[in-house]
Amino acid sequence: MERLTRRRFLGGAGAAAATAALGPPARRASAQAKPLKIGLVLPYSNVYAVLGESITEGMRLVFERESWTVAGRKVELLREDDEVSPQVGLRKTKKLIESDAVDFLVGPVSSGVLAAIRDTVHQARQILIVANAGNDEISRERCSKYIFRASFSNWQPNWPMGAWVAAHVGKEAHLIAPKYSAGFDMMKAFKETFVPAGGRVVGEDYTPFPVNEDFAPFLTKINQAAPRVVYAFFSGSQAVRFVRQYDEFGLRARSKLCGAGFLTETDVLPAEGKSALGIITGHFYSTLLDNPTNRQFVREFRETFKKTPDGFAVQGYDTAQTIVHALKATGGDTQNKDRLIEAVRRVEFDSPRGRFRFDPKTQNVIQPFIYIREVREVGGELANVVIDQVANVKDPGTGCTLPG
Ligand code: BEZ
Repeated sequence: MERLTRRRFLGGAGAAAATAALGPPARRASAQAKPLKIGLVLPYSNVYAVLGESITEGMRLVFERESWTVAGRKVELLREDDEVSPQVGLRKTKKLIESDAVDFLVGPVSSGVLAAIRDTVHQARQILIVANAGNDEISRERCSKYIFRASFSNWQPNWPMGAWVAAHVGKEAHLIAPKYSAGFDMMKAFKETFVPAGGRVVGEDYTPFPVNEDFAPFLTKINQAAPRVVYAFFSGSQAVRFVRQYDEFGLRARSKLCGAGFLTETDVLPAEGKSALGIITGHFYSTLLDNPTNRQFVREFRETFKKTPDGFAVQGYDTAQTIVHALKATGGDTQNKDRLIEAVRRVEFDSPRGRFRFDPKTQNVIQPFIYIREVREVGGELANVVIDQVANVKDPGTGCTLPG
């Protein structure tokens, strides 16, 4: 017979109390014995492949700590590659909801994919924890009570940067980003504070997405205009290409490159190399944050995956922590949707980025800080060194009033 440890005993008692409203004991027992299925709709190929891997690794770290069992339910991750394509993402989402009957859906990375799957998720009453895609509309006019975002809205890292860049770098900026909703959202948020702070946008370009090998036509234009600042959003393999080509064009010395943190996150820094030195970005995280949760996270991540974690791994970690905390609060029950949604809303914990909690109005994470970071060499490695910060950055969404 299995020995009942104090920890197991207390866990069992808590679970019984929390599920008291669920119905006859026999039904409860069989429902709870079922594995917890988490469907991942993430890119494992194309421009954002590394982002999908990082998010998955961050989640694995949390479930490893929990020995892959939460509130008595064995955790199963079902991976689907959305290929950064709205059509593929929608097909894979339908499969995870309809055929696999997942308890939680996690993902996607691209705003384009999230826009495509939003209505399907909402109509199916499927709880989705967004682990990257930042489209502002999901915290605003297209919100859903079934959708939470543990990453960021596109507005969040860029809005504080506008005023900061105008005050500390320069008042003439050329903006450049990929031609899809994330690029548009991010540049719009930057302008919201850059222009009132006396900044002038002297040029604006939107580049092919998801495939673009060559930034030369855009860099030629920037070279001729010679603005004081270039403000950019690129991520994944496009960030590497852009930062390298920017340096090859000799623009680094003349036009200060600034942008959204994804441009120099730890996933891309090694490939960007010295071309990234001096770039200033806004982001909710830096590997160098000196708090106990981050120190433990970075150490365990390095031990497990033999590399340094990035902000996307933090998003995966926070997504998994959200699931773990909510599930423990319901004693493992995922059948009662309203109760599970309420449990997710109340989740709070220490994350590597600081205290994690959702804004009840938008169900989007409140960023404890947006850090202004500069790429410098630290101990022989490139890192995003925090040079300033803005506290408590909430998306301005005013509340989800769409019918449930
Ligand atoms: C987006 O599509 O929302 C996105 C993709 C990569 C990094 C940040 C945002």
